[in-house]
Amino acid sequence: MPVLQVEHLSKVYEGRIPYTALNDISLTVEKGEFVAIMGPSGSGKSTFLNVISTIDHPTSGNVIIDGNNPHTMNDNQLAYFRRNILGFVFQDFNLIDTLTAEENIMLPLTLNGVKPAEIKKQTQKLAQMLSIDKLLNKRTFEISGGQAQRIAIARAVVTNPTLLLADEPTGNLDSKATRDVMELFQMLNQNQNATILMVTHDAFVASYCKRVLIIKDGRLYQEIIKGDNRQAFQQKIVDAMSLLGGEPRDIT
Ligand SMILES: Nc1ncnc2c1ncn2[C@@H]1O[C@H](COP(=O)(O)OP(=O)(O)OP(=O)(O)O)[C@@H](O)[C@H]1O
Ligand SMILES: [Mg+2]
Repeated sequence: MPVLQVEHLSKVYEGRIPYTALNDISLTVEKGEFVAIMGPSGSGKSTFLNVISTIDHPTSGNVIIDGNNPHTMNDNQLAYFRRNILGFVFQDFNLIDTLTAEENIMLPLTLNGVKPAEIKKQTQKLAQMLSIDKLLNKRTFEISGGQAQRIAIARAVVTNPTLLLADEPTGNLDSKATRDVMELFQMLNQNQNATILMVTHDAFVASYCKRVLIIKDGRLYQEIIKGDNRQAFQQKIVDAMSLLGGEPRDIT
């Protein structure tokens, strides 16, 4: 069973003039895939991720995650689903400033009612695996953007979610921190078999994935699959994006 199945998904923003932001998108993401969604500004990337993550509702079509359609769930089911089946990483980290890094990572387990000793154990283990154990006692104002995003990723994966979603996770980071964060995603994908769906406009960032899906005007427009060579993959992405009038970064 695929982790994510999207069937004829459409989203129309109603208004004085209705706007079709997603137009009949169908795709499948299998367990252990690492997929980037790209496309020009306004093409529907965030709308797509928001409909997948149940932040927004589709106008028609289905989203099936782990065999279930979250859009038909009641509030209790949905709360459980969002907390345990999905993991979220945002552009602006969304850490809670009054908590330490460790407390931020622990939060989903605390909300799930896991015993404190078990929470502590799991958090320490995860922090070691992600090489962020030295940051655990720090507050959000004491760490860099790249460190904050690595903490946010730890918080997103501490429940072992079936699907990890990220919208422009490197959008606020410099190139060094971008590399650190992408190496972390890659490690989670390769070593933990995490399934990751990530929106980015950055060809270098997308080149860490195994597959890039390009959305144009709300439609699935093109798929690019990684071969053996990351740089050749990145060049293909840059070429495809420049045909669309995107602004990819220089090749690195
Ligand atoms: N709440 C809304 N109401 C009406 N139109 C919306 C709404 N949210 C987004 N749109 C429109 O839907 C289209 C897709 O928006 P979306 O935010 O998904 O684009 P995007 O691909 O994420 O762009 P960017 O790269 O700039 O983040 C845009 O034309 C946008 O103006
Ligand atoms: Mg967006």
